[in-house]
Amino acid sequence: MVWVGVWIPGEHDGAMSAHDPDPELVAAAQAAHLLAYCPYSHYRVGAAIRTAAGAVIAGCNVENAAYPLGSCAEAGAIAAMVAAGERAIVEIVVVTDGEQPGTPCGGCRQRIREFAGPEVAVHSVAASGATWSATVAELLPHSFGPEFLDAD
Ligand code: THU
Repeated sequence: MVWVGVWIPGEHDGAMSAHDPDPELVAAAQAAHLLAYCPYSHYRVGAAIRTAAGAVIAGCNVENAAYPLGSCAEAGAIAAMVAAGERAIVEIVVVTDGEQPGTPCGGCRQRIREFAGPEVAVHSVAASGATWSATVAELLPHSFGPEFLDAD
């Protein structure tokens, strides 16, 4: 059985479970969150990936005066992971501003899915500490991925 939390203010604050995010990933995502370049939205996002080789790789959102060119934290972390020679996500933590944990946008769900199996945990942690967790399959059901194509 896979657990997926429905976020209710305060409900998961400080709660411990087998599904809690890796503290090392939370720390790395929090550090990236502080470095976010988001002068337009003022919404900081940090993401940290545990790779199959055990590395921790982080990214943050980077906005642009030409708004559509901005990139998400998850996209930055994934690009850094690939540039580091890794292609498998074991766990990912996203840290966002505010009370409510911000879940990955639709585009980033697809980006994560490219490099993660359906059971991989995606944790969203708010600045308040509130945490929401789901698997890749829950975030993006019936998804399209590399196995549909004749990928290398
Ligand atoms: N953002 C992310 O970094 N990741 C997401 O999954 C959702 C949105 C960023 C993009 C933009 O810089 C800001 O949050 C507001 O949308």
